[in-house]
Amino acid sequence: MVKAFAVLAAFVALACAKPHVARDMLLHDRRDAAPRGFIKSGPAPADTELRLRLALKQTDIEGLKTALVDVSTPSSANYGNHLSKEEVLEYASPKAETVDAVHSWLSENGLTAATLSPAGDWVGFTTTVAKANELFDADFSTFTHTATGVSSIRTLEYSIPAVLKGHLDLVHPTTSFSTPKANKGLPSIALPVKFSNVTADASASCSTITPSCVQSLYGIPTTLATQTNNQLAVAGFIDQYANSADLKTFLKDYRKDLPSTNTFTLQTLDGGSNPQSSSQAGVEADLDVQYTVGIASGVPTVFVSVGDSFQDGDLEGFLDIVNFLLAETNVPTVMTTSYGENESDMSIDLADKLCNAYATLGARGTSVLFASGDGGVSGSQSQDCDTFVPTFPSGCPYLTSVGATTGTNPETAASLSAGGFSNYFGIPSWQATAVSGYLTKEGRTNSGLYNASGRGYPDVAALGQNVEIIYQGKATAVDGTSCASPMFASVVALLNDKLIAAGKSPLGFLNPFLYSTGASALNDITKGDNPGCNTNGFSATTGWDPVTGLGSPNFAALVKAVGL
Ligand SMILES: *[C@@H]1O[C@H](CO)[C@@H](O)[C@H](O)[C@H]1NC(C)=O
Ligand SMILES: *[C@@H]1O[C@H](CO)[C@@H](O)[C@H](O)[C@H]1NC(C)=O
Ligand SMILES: *[C@@H]1O[C@H](CO)[C@@H](O)[C@H](O)[C@H]1NC(C)=O
Repeated sequence: MVKAFAVLAAFVALACAKPHVARDMLLHDRRDAAPRGFIKSGPAPADTELRLRLALKQTDIEGLKTALVDVSTPSSANYGNHLSKEEVLEYASPKAETVDAVHSWLSENGLTAATLSPAGDWVGFTTTVAKANELFDADFSTFTHTATGVSSIRTLEYSIPAVLKGHLDLVHPTTSFSTPKANKGLPSIALPVKFSNVTADASASCSTITPSCVQSLYGIPTTLATQTNNQLAVAGFIDQYANSADLKTFLKDYRKDLPSTNTFTLQTLDGGSNPQSSSQAGVEADLDVQYTVGIASGVPTVFVSVGDSFQDGDLEGFLDIVNFLLAETNVPTVMTTSYGENESDMSIDLADKLCNAYATLGARGTSVLFASGDGGVSGSQSQDCDTFVPTFPSGCPYLTSVGATTGTNPETAASLSAGGFSNYFGIPSWQATAVSGYLTKEGRTNSGLYNASGRGYPDVAALGQNVEIIYQGKATAVDGTSCASPMFASVVALLNDKLIAAGKSPLGFLNPFLYSTGASALNDITKGDNPGCNTNGFSATTGWDPVTGLGSPNFAALVKAVGL
């Protein structure tokens, strides 16, 4: 019956040259209002073109997550048996019946879609606002971001045809909003790095942090890594370019012991590039390559520059880079990303889909690390807020979120360190004891301002204040969890070098290890807090806390903990 009806519908569409939409629709997503900072400024012109993407339900994403946890849990017999590209595709590809259902519905409506991901779980097509409203019972309107005046076309709710129930995860862009670039070039995905107020001074006291401070505080070896099939990927977005000359000066100044040829390689997607004039050097990108190449001595490091021709709507390439890497036969063993945004800007469906993409990369054996954000409990950057603002993607349980510390004697929580609890993702099993231990100590403090049943973040921490870099030829100091994620990623990359040399698997998804045998191999940070939203925020304390996670790395202890 359904099939006959579908054929008839297709015929009608052709005969009348007018799409006929089955009115059997199911509400799929809605939000009461646009996120703070956006206002609805009017209807969207009916003939405006929209590039829409459909996320097709994957065959067995829950099975993939179970397999991921199995290969990532040290006590499991399968620990370290990362999945192959083919094994991952079996879980992550949509079923044939899903592909058929979606494509026949598209063709009934006179549309054809291009496949946008290696698993075929994303397809995209271009249509008009009028047709999109009809296809999805939506009300695409113009929303203006008040701070920048930039407008985007979104709908506060949409439905999907009943025939696609169980086949379609979401339609994008619909109910997710991304904060546009400001005139000054402020990124829509926040750049968690700021110039520090402390004048750069590479004194032995480590009042500004240099590679030797990081190496001595964490016991990181300075000897060269030996394995060539180990790769540390540094993600670059929003036209942040990594400058080779700045890196060269940095290594000459702070890593005289490294061969002067040490540098990074480049991969690009979405029209990305990495121009090298000094004025185009990006502070974030410079920091990220300097604290990977400069700490993960000799580990092959690749800067992955994501351009502005996104395939993923205005996710700024966040999904594209994962799909790009998943298409490779050998994925990087570690990826560090120092960009993020407010969780609430994203719809829960889209956040979940991206989170699953990180789980998929983890299943292939990549340790996925993200900076937690720089606004303390107020989110990616400091801002006015009534309740604490969780950041994305740190709230996703299938990646490792890195917060920031300050000082070396003693090392304490940096007040900027974003941390808290997700409103979208629940507490994963490996974290349950650590989080409930913290919540017991926290008691009623801050109650009502955060979601006590959410995934807690960050997971770990590293230095993130007064960190010295070379930027556009000059020494300067920067602050941010952006400093911490590359440092922690470098530690993981060096552990992987040793594991691979010993004939073992690289670490892959870290969290089940970190919250079990890894916890005692981290320096517990017990002082400091992360104020925001007119509160003192959370406090660092013994054990896990939502400021510094489980703590900062102790390399020698980690070597033992990973079984070397
Ligand atoms: C996060 O949301 C706040 C408002 O709630 C806004 O001021 C800020 O710009 C947002 N940050 C990003 C990176 O989207
Ligand atoms: C840092 O310096 C800038 C200008 O030099 C000043 O406006 C700002 O208040 C300072 N911030 C802190 C935290 O001292
Ligand atoms: C709190 O987190 C849980 C678990 O993710 C979620 O189900 C719930 O909706 C969240 N509550 C709010 C108010 O966001």
